[in-house]
Amino acid sequence: MNKVTVVGAGNVGATVANVLAHKDIVKEIVLLDLQDDLARGKALDTWEQAPIDYYSTRLMGTGDYKDTAGSDVVVITAGVPRKPGMSRDDLITTNAKIVTSVTKSILEYSKNPIIIIVSNPLDVMTYAAYKTSGLDKSRVFGMAGILDTARYRAFLASEIDTSPKEIQAVLMGGHGDTMVPLPRYTTVAGIPVTELVSEERIEAIVNRTKKGGGELVQLMGTSAWYAPGAAAAQMVESILKDENRIFPCCVKLEGEYGQKDIFLGVPVKLGRSGIKQVIELKLNDDEMALLNESAAHVRKVKDSFDAMGL
Ligand code: LAC
Repeated sequence: MNKVTVVGAGNVGATVANVLAHKDIVKEIVLLDLQDDLARGKALDTWEQAPIDYYSTRLMGTGDYKDTAGSDVVVITAGVPRKPGMSRDDLITTNAKIVTSVTKSILEYSKNPIIIIVSNPLDVMTYAAYKTSGLDKSRVFGMAGILDTARYRAFLASEIDTSPKEIQAVLMGGHGDTMVPLPRYTTVAGIPVTELVSEERIEAIVNRTKKGGGELVQLMGTSAWYAPGAAAAQMVESILKDENRIFPCCVKLEGEYGQKDIFLGVPVKLGRSGIKQVIELKLNDDEMALLNESAAHVRKVKDSFDAMGL
């Protein structure tokens, strides 16, 4: 594994490239954007950081898909971000066309890459890339769960006044306000979170997590990039190092959790060949109801994508 392409040199794409370069685990990162000088500039800036932060990863910025040839992993961040007042689903008309055409262009030059989608609406853009690519379902998946779980973990760390390192959690469902954080599967240094935080406070934190992306859009006028970029880079790391880490990722379900023909966030094992296993938890009735509600929401957005006939 020696080449990773990041499509989109906006805030998220540039952060993926920068964080990944710092991990020093890949020979070359290609940052591609239609605004090719922007891609060149951000790649060059990150390369100029290498002598300070000590990494060897080479970076190249380009607007030409030829330069992505032979990529092992491709992270697609292309598309427009939310503005205040918008939901992620409002982006579908613009981003569906972008993600579909980017996927086609990538496959012209890389035969069997692993593709990680970051563009929104995430679950349906992942489905769009899968459908367009014709790749195996283990090789096309989306980044949302790590980010949403990170927000949940960060809020819990503040609440408990401990390090975020101590918080382990699982969060499932779509990347939207119907996402399903699972307090029953949340621990603080091995201690069930319910023993340290009141039910009321957990509920408030769960609600803040669900709207976590929107909170940042309100503050900044555009969507977040540091945590989203780092989350995608962490997925690439688990693949390149074949770590088999267990993360919530947006993947194609074929009967797991009673769902099929849908891409949805669930815990998976992630390694060199992509998604190696979907982990099925024994959800209780309440948790299952929330997951079904989230799936129903994603299905509606998927139907509007299908109706576009791309
Ligand atoms: C967010 C965007 C990346 O949740 O969807 O910040």
